Order: sequence, then structure tokens, then C-alpha cells
Amino acid sequence: MSATFDLTRIAVDTDYHGQMAADVRAGLTATPKALPPKYFYDAAGSELFVRITQLEEYYQTRTETAILEQVADAIVADIAPVELVELGSGASRKTRVLLEAMHRSGAAERPRYVPFDVSEDAIVGAAEALTGDYAWLDVHGIVGDFDHHLTDVPRSGRRLVAFLGSTIGNLDPDEQVALLTQVRAMLDDGDGFVLGVDLVKDATTLVRAYDDAEGVTAAFNRNVLHNVNATLGADFEPDDFDHVARWNDAESRIEMWLRARRDMQVRVKDLDLDVELVEGEEVHTEISSKFTEPTITDRLATAGLRVARFDTDPRGWFGVVTAVPAG
Ligand code: AVJ
Repeated sequence: MSATFDLTRIAVDTDYHGQMAADVRAGLTATPKALPPKYFYDAAGSELFVRITQLEEYYQTRTETAILEQVADAIVADIAPVELVELGSGASRKTRVLLEAMHRSGAAERPRYVPFDVSEDAIVGAAEALTGDYAWLDVHGIVGDFDHHLTDVPRSGRRLVAFLGSTIGNLDPDEQVALLTQVRAMLDDGDGFVLGVDLVKDATTLVRAYDDAEGVTAAFNRNVLHNVNATLGADFEPDDFDHVARWNDAESRIEMWLRARRDMQVRVKDLDLDVELVEGEEVHTEISSKFTEPTITDRLATAGLRVARFDTDPRGWFGVVTAVPAG
């Protein structure tokens, strides 16, 4: 039998324009001004992000992949999952490492891959790539919003949930616990959760990963302004903003900002909003939290999850945490 693919759409708010309108109005009328990181990822921004993952300075992706290549068989042996639910699906090497380990383990004749994403295109793209290569795979995509719909994912048996890439770092600590609590609610006894987390290290290495020599991250950061211009009819001049990446030691996170090079007035047509920026003013665009083994263990415990394994690379730069429901 060859691979199969089907798709479930859980009530998703498809009104991208309306959602961005509300978020941008709130962000640009706040102090300091802010724009949410989810608006980096239009088509151009998603391509820029792929280029970031290939940069010499951006060690995260290749380090996480290398850890998974080392430990995927052991993680899968501990849990014996028949399905992999991936939050924020990728068609990436990382997913393949886990799926291939599941296939090798023989726990299921036909492992099931459940990519869960807000973007139907991302799911279809992932499914096409994977079903073409793995005749033994069944893909059941879920289009949903992982703020609300995680517990609606139908289960087929022993489950491994994966949230890779340190995407959790984009959330503040309360939001992290809220998300992990949702993940906990998806798990039965015996199920497992694999979480990728970028770890605290020297500030120079961290800042370099968010301020690369080629300026790809700078372009990615400014892309949020292109997206707001295109979607809401704003007239930001992205090239009049400097890319700023700085380490916030107290909060243990990298922060990205866009700093106005001059006084400016920006009109956001669809919001009927005029925004003043003064020279040097910074607009906050992203946090990327960095963890230690104790901080992520504590966060997981608050959500009812116990760390079963903590795997890292030889330099201790990235962590792959395997957690299970706490007693
Ligand atoms: C996709 C959220 C994990 O925070 O490192 C990369 C996004 N921002 N470079 C990260 C990002 C700037 C990335 N995450």
C-alpha cells in the first residue's frame, strides 16, 4: 500500500486581514510600539527564514537535527509511538529523523504523521514531500490554531507530540506554560512529548545568530513592515529602519527591534491610523527565549509534565527534551 494523506480543518480564523488589523492597531498604539512575530511569515518571510536556518551563525537548526539523529531511536524506543503529532509542521529533516526512527522501531506497521499548523499550505507541502518518499506513512493533517485546538486532535494510539525548533521561545513564560498545559492535555499515560529548546550561552554567539553578517535576519525583521504595507496599505519605508538584536540577560532572551533612522510619520490606510516615530525610536518585533535545563524542567513541571530525557550537543548549545505526563 502506498502512503495516504487526508486533512481536517478545525474552525480556524481565516480572516488574516482582520486579525492583522487588530494586532497592528494594538501594537502601534502601545508603548513601546510592537508588531507580533507571526507577521514575519508571509511567502517572502518564510523563504528568508529558511535562509536563516542555513546561515553559519544560526547554529540552532543543524544542532537540533544532529541531536535528533543521535537520540531519535532511543526516544522512540522509550515511548513506542504509533503516531507523531507535530506542532508547527515542517517538511524538514528533523521530522524525517523521527518518522524514520518510528518506522525502524516497528511499533506500528504504518506510522501516522499528524502535522498541525495554521497554514494549510504548509501542511500540504509537508505531506507531499513525505508521502512521496515514505510508502509506509499515513499523513493526517490538521489545520488549526494551537492556542485553542490542540485537544481536538483525534488520536490513533500511543502518541509522540513534537514541538521543535525552539519556537516555544517566541512566547513569554506565561504563554509557554499555557501552551505546555495544552500539550499535557493531549497526552495519555505512556505518551511522550519532544521539545526543542535553544539554550543559554555566551551573549556574543547568541547575538551573532540574530544579526548575521549577510543581513538575512535584518531583511527578515524588516519584512514584517513589507507585510504590514501589503496587507493593511501602510506606507512604512523598511529601509529607514535599522535591525537591532540584543541579549536581555534579566529575561534570558534575545530581542529583535526595528529602530527608526529618522523622525517619520506612517499612515496605515486600512486602520485609518497615523503613527509618529521619532529618530531612534524602536519597534519591538520578537523575543526568542533561551533556556537552561532547570528553567525548562520547571516550566514543564508547572504544566504537569516530567522530564524523562534531556539530550544536548557536545557544546551544550541546544536541548532536545523528552517529557511525559507527571505521575
Ligand atoms: C522560528 C522562532 C525559532 O527565534 O530563532 C530566527 C525565529 N528570528 N531569526 C528564532 C527567528 C530571527 C526563530 N524561531
